[in-house]
Amino acid sequence: MHDADPARYAHSAFQARCGKSGLHLPKISLGLWHNFGSVDDYATARSIALRAFDLGVTHFDLANNYGPLPGSAEETFGRILRDGLGKYRDELVISTKAGYTMWPGPHGDFGSRKYLLASLDQSLKRMGLPYVDIFYSHRRDPNTPMEETMGALAHAVRSGKALYAAISNYNPADTARACAILRDLGTPCVVHQPKYSMFERTPEAGLLDTVEKEGIGCAVFSPLAQGMLTDRYLKGIPADARAGKLHGFLRPEQVDAIRMEKVRQLAKVAEERGQPLASMALAWVLRDKRVTTAIIGASKVAQLEQCVAAAHSAPFASEELKRIDAILAG
Ligand SMILES: NC(=O)c1ccc[n+]([C@@H]2O[C@H](COP(=O)([O-])OP(=O)(O)OC[C@H]3O[C@@H](n4cnc5c(N)ncnc54)[C@H](OP(=O)(O)O)[C@@H]3O)[C@@H](O)[C@H]2O)c1
Repeated sequence: MHDADPARYAHSAFQARCGKSGLHLPKISLGLWHNFGSVDDYATARSIALRAFDLGVTHFDLANNYGPLPGSAEETFGRILRDGLGKYRDELVISTKAGYTMWPGPHGDFGSRKYLLASLDQSLKRMGLPYVDIFYSHRRDPNTPMEETMGALAHAVRSGKALYAAISNYNPADTARACAILRDLGTPCVVHQPKYSMFERTPEAGLLDTVEKEGIGCAVFSPLAQGMLTDRYLKGIPADARAGKLHGFLRPEQVDAIRMEKVRQLAKVAEERGQPLASMALAWVLRDKRVTTAIIGASKVAQLEQCVAAAHSAPFASEELKRIDAILAG
């Protein structure tokens, strides 16, 4: 069993209100997309999750398809809950999603009511939970009426199987529409989950304005560009890194010379700020007050610790931000 650190809430600024809701998320959240599958080492996965909670990371982000094998990250998390973390259930914010391919046929993917509600039942079973805190539509389904997808999220909330409804990977116009429908249904959207990092700045072109206008939170994913915005690839691709693994979503060709030159220059800025590049990259996404939390991944406890430390970074001087913009544009 595990007794959590009594000082886990010592830094009150680490918890942030999610939009205008009553839900609070830690500035750094832990995502279980990689490193928690059936192919990964269970003891390491458990240590990362328990250390995260000790450091105040109360939010654990999952999806039906995380693994590999798909579904196995939820099974691993269920085991971690049974193995110690579960006694803190009322402090935990557990999210899951449905929207990508999960089983064969037309109702194992995208955004139908049939898929979303069956998937949520499966997720709950894998984690051994009666409810999750946040249930996401993982992506917009262009061929299903948005009323149907949002209606499924609302039903999940009303049935008690999820506490809050949420969306991920929706563009600004679809976000505004989804929020309006969910508001009308009496189950407001609590958070949007977009990809955002120094290498992926699309949310700056409208989405961040939209989440602010709608009064919802913003949980950004892959803030380290899957590990590229760290020192991980500065000397090539290690075999134990995501880009070195056959099942890793980051492919070796994405770790290209142009990106790595930018990473080297960014690492110099970080060094001058007195912090590792990973911490600076996270501080950079969190500099925008519309960003509620950065959802990171970690394959080692030390990585997680470095990421959490980022939440206590010094603010950026405007000169530093300009230098970073110039490096990214170069
Ligand atoms: N909604 C969506 O569509 C969607 C899509 C993708 C992700 N997500 C969510 O976002 C979460 C995070 O995504 P991500 O894993 O791509 O995030 P990320 O934080 O950009 O990348 C995580 C990887 O960076 C490396 N890393 C982390 N800390 C490090 C450090 N201090 N020093 C050196 N390397 C470090 C590790 O790579 P190694 O494993 O190589 O060590 C780790 O696995 C996912 O787990 C999931 O919950 C959501």
